[in-house]
Amino acid sequence: MDDIELIKQKINIVDLISEYLPLKKAGVNFKAPCPFHQEKTPSFMVSPERGIFHCFGCGKSGDIYTFLIEKEGMDFPEALETLAKKAGVVLQRSSNFRSEIKDKKTRLYEVNQKASQFFNYMLTEHKLGKKALEYLKKRGITDKTIKDFNLGYAPNSWESLTKFLKARNFTVEEMSNAGLLIPSAKGGYDRFRGRIMFPLLDTKSQIIGFSGRILGVGEPKYINSPQTIIFDKSNFLFGLNITKGEIKQKNSAILTEGEMDMIMSYQSGVKNVIASKGTALTLGQIELIKKYTDTIILCFDHDLAGDSASRRGIEMADHAGLNIKVIKITDGKDPAELTLKDVSLWEKSVEDAESIYDYYLTSVNSRFKISSAEGKRRIGEELLPIWNKISDPLTFEHYLQKLSALIGIPDEILRKEIKKVKTDSSIPVVFKESGNSLTEIKQVLRVRRDLLEEYLLTLLLKIPSDLTFVPNFPETIFLTENLRSVYVLLVIYLDAISFKAKSFLVADFVKSIPEELVPIVDQLYLREIDDKLSSSKIWKAEIEKMVAELKRALVKASLEKLSADIKSAQAFGKMEVLENLNKKFRDLSVKLKGL
Ligand code: GTP
Ligand code: MN
Repeated sequence: MDDIELIKQKINIVDLISEYLPLKKAGVNFKAPCPFHQEKTPSFMVSPERGIFHCFGCGKSGDIYTFLIEKEGMDFPEALETLAKKAGVVLQRSSNFRSEIKDKKTRLYEVNQKASQFFNYMLTEHKLGKKALEYLKKRGITDKTIKDFNLGYAPNSWESLTKFLKARNFTVEEMSNAGLLIPSAKGGYDRFRGRIMFPLLDTKSQIIGFSGRILGVGEPKYINSPQTIIFDKSNFLFGLNITKGEIKQKNSAILTEGEMDMIMSYQSGVKNVIASKGTALTLGQIELIKKYTDTIILCFDHDLAGDSASRRGIEMADHAGLNIKVIKITDGKDPAELTLKDVSLWEKSVEDAESIYDYYLTSVNSRFKISSAEGKRRIGEELLPIWNKISDPLTFEHYLQKLSALIGIPDEILRKEIKKVKTDSSIPVVFKESGNSLTEIKQVLRVRRDLLEEYLLTLLLKIPSDLTFVPNFPETIFLTENLRSVYVLLVIYLDAISFKAKSFLVADFVKSIPEELVPIVDQLYLREIDDKLSSSKIWKAEIEKMVAELKRALVKASLEKLSADIKSAQAFGKMEVLENLNKKFRDLSVKLKGL
């Protein structure tokens, strides 16, 4: 066993985390309000048995090392040293370990730096970069901007960068670790070919990766560096290294989607701007932004209310205490185009940015018919869960009144409805099914089904200690492949330890399963279940209920499919087929009743 494992075994994660948080026992696990995001009800769970934590609110998870890294801002070697002292373990690996990692990283910064010089030279000096330079000029980019952002061009050949770097004593391994080279049997070839190159810099202005845009049209439009030991896309914001001062000074950050939007806004003089590179906001990005400002102004070209990833990002930003505003560009152009057409229009759009909650109100107003009951109901369904999560009470009150005025429903009623919104992710939500469109029902059923499957597996992983039989039902009721695999492995495992003689230990079970399934088991095992379920009688009844429900859901889905087939057979007058289908439908209906 190496030091890292040994220390993990010696330190109880509950003791460690208890130094920071008031952990309370919750079944086999412990829980507390999450230290990584603001919340009222605890969703931060710790498993002493597995030595891990997981927050069901913000998604952060890890072990004792990760906890110190996240909570104390340590790097891994620091966390290792701290915990080694605590555990009384003398580290075998010499103190070289720290400098080894540091050297590795330094080499990657260096290879990126060299590569950026090569790309920039190709763009600005070499004849191979002439077309690329023309393209950038055509899009309105000035020489000064090319210099400010150190833009470049990767020639359309397989090895030009690789050769250049080899001649400067970088190894294939280093190039590959930096994501500049794609390894192959013959050694490897350039990842970026025939592309405009944007170096990606962290806030210390070290080059951590690149993105490359194709010239003109083509797929994929952008290629990014892969994740490396120095680059993690989800903790990165393009342009922040250049604009962080401006952002602090203006106390707001405009968040655009694309590199080009960010660059063009900066060039036009609106400089408190960054880009997320096309992804929804992550927690890492929110934390970065918070170092410089408490106001974020979103400028995305899709409807933020209609997209759940965007909504989730916005919810996290709200919980982190950021004011969130939204820029609307009325004539359908993106910032890059707008700044070229008329800078004052872009400045005005930024000036007129509205609060995210006003934006949501405008969005539902344009998508639903407010005067109809159906419209009101749909708006309630969409906005009440969001309103429920507004963390500041005055803001909440303000927008509750506004929503009430918009749809003409007294705020008292909205208040009551909001209370009904479920927030606990550990309990399967029972959705209202009536009145929804068919596709919505299908979606809701699928989500609900996933929750049921997860819940059932959670129950199975928490087998009461006095149980004397192995649960047995067909694995086919799990439609989610990973969950099904875990279930099958669990049954095999239980058989193998001849369950009656030896009790179930999840830490032991995970040793018998493939690595990629371990996080799934950990997540499920960390969920909280009702205390009553530690009684094997109640547990067994709950399992049976869930199995029956999943079976029913399967049959219902088949019936739905059959009735669609029947309709189409009727429409096309296929009589024999129809008869057959009708019989199947009857049989299944009978089966459903029996379940
Ligand atoms: P231009 O067309 O050059 O103005 O870029 P854009 O910023 O308008 O691009 P778009 O709005 O299509 O996409 C926004 C951002 O998403 C881009 O800047 C990229 O960072 C990212 N993106 C776009 N296309 C791709 C792609 O094909 N692959 C990846 N990985 N990212 C992309
Ligand atoms: Mn664009």
